[in-house]
Amino acid sequence: MIQKKITAFPELGSISAEFNENKRIILHPGLSYDFLKTLPDKIIRLIITSPPYNLGKIYENEIELDKYLMEHELVISELIRVLADNGSICWEIGNYVKDGEVYPLDVYFYETFKKYNLKLRNRIIWHFGHGLHCKNRFSGRYETILWFTKNKDYIFNLDIVRVPHKYPGKRAYKGPNKGKPSGNPLGKNPSDVWKILNKDWESAFWEFPNVKSNHPEKTIHPCQFPVELAERCILALTNENDYILDPYCGVGSSLIAGIKHNRKVIGVDKELEYISITKKRIEQFFQGKLKMRPLGKKIHKPTGREKVSQIPKEWRNLKEK
Ligand SMILES: C[S@@+](CC[C@H](N)C(=O)[O-])C[C@H]1O[C@@H](n2cnc3c(N)ncnc32)[C@H](O)[C@@H]1O
Repeated sequence: MIQKKITAFPELGSISAEFNENKRIILHPGLSYDFLKTLPDKIIRLIITSPPYNLGKIYENEIELDKYLMEHELVISELIRVLADNGSICWEIGNYVKDGEVYPLDVYFYETFKKYNLKLRNRIIWHFGHGLHCKNRFSGRYETILWFTKNKDYIFNLDIVRVPHKYPGKRAYKGPNKGKPSGNPLGKNPSDVWKILNKDWESAFWEFPNVKSNHPEKTIHPCQFPVELAERCILALTNENDYILDPYCGVGSSLIAGIKHNRKVIGVDKELEYISITKKRIEQFFQGKLKMRPLGKKIHKPTGREKVSQIPKEWRNLKEK
């Protein structure tokens, strides 16, 4: 979907690199911990982020797991300071793998957040269909989002993120509502298992087989998450004009989701190159040129007629040999 030109932010030209309460978009090149120190207490309604996983990606050095967790705890304590009393944290994370052994990082981070008395509301499974093919274990096809709140009072706008019912025609078969439609007319709760394309451009694979590697949504970032993933959290856990913070914003997927829904956004990344791609994506968004999958769009299922979904002729008789 191509966005319509949006004019909600007339002051767009001025993305601020430092916190300034008169600006709606703050994009800081630098280290999260240092930047967080400059933010006032309790101003952020939602922290949504995918931190580095300590996998030795181009933007990180792999270190001992204990040290990695300790470094993150420093950042987490600052994040909790800047989080509003009715605010939420969505911590999107996968596994750390060393010598073929899997360390589920959400399990370790759960302990860290509990030290600060945060309350886990959901451990969301984000399931995706593509990824590395493992040889010595089952291929990993999910990551998790730990959704914590600071307190027992928090924002949760369920109706805005409801999804279509599988069987909308179902009716109550007993009780006072017998015979009436049994579901909610706005749709059903999306549950804690989310099937969202890992990378937006994968949807293009089936429809335009040659564009996968140069789909306009694809950037050079190795671990970009889909805008759609952040959108659902933002819509459910914040209201318009709230502050959203991504302390490891990469190429700005959560910022774009926030801007799209009229939230104020703050992003930090230590890599200048990702910061400039974020700026470019924001610019393209306001020009109506940024292509994004609409929230909730069905994932394309192959019909069986596409060449890529047919069994190669070389495999057809293998079982009989
Ligand atoms: C998993 S990626 C996040 C990708 C992002 N969700 C997106 O969609 O583009 C983690 C990011 O954290 C950044 N990073 C790592 N350590 C950092 C630090 N100490 N301060 C700020 N950014 C950091 C990396 O440059 C990387 O872009």
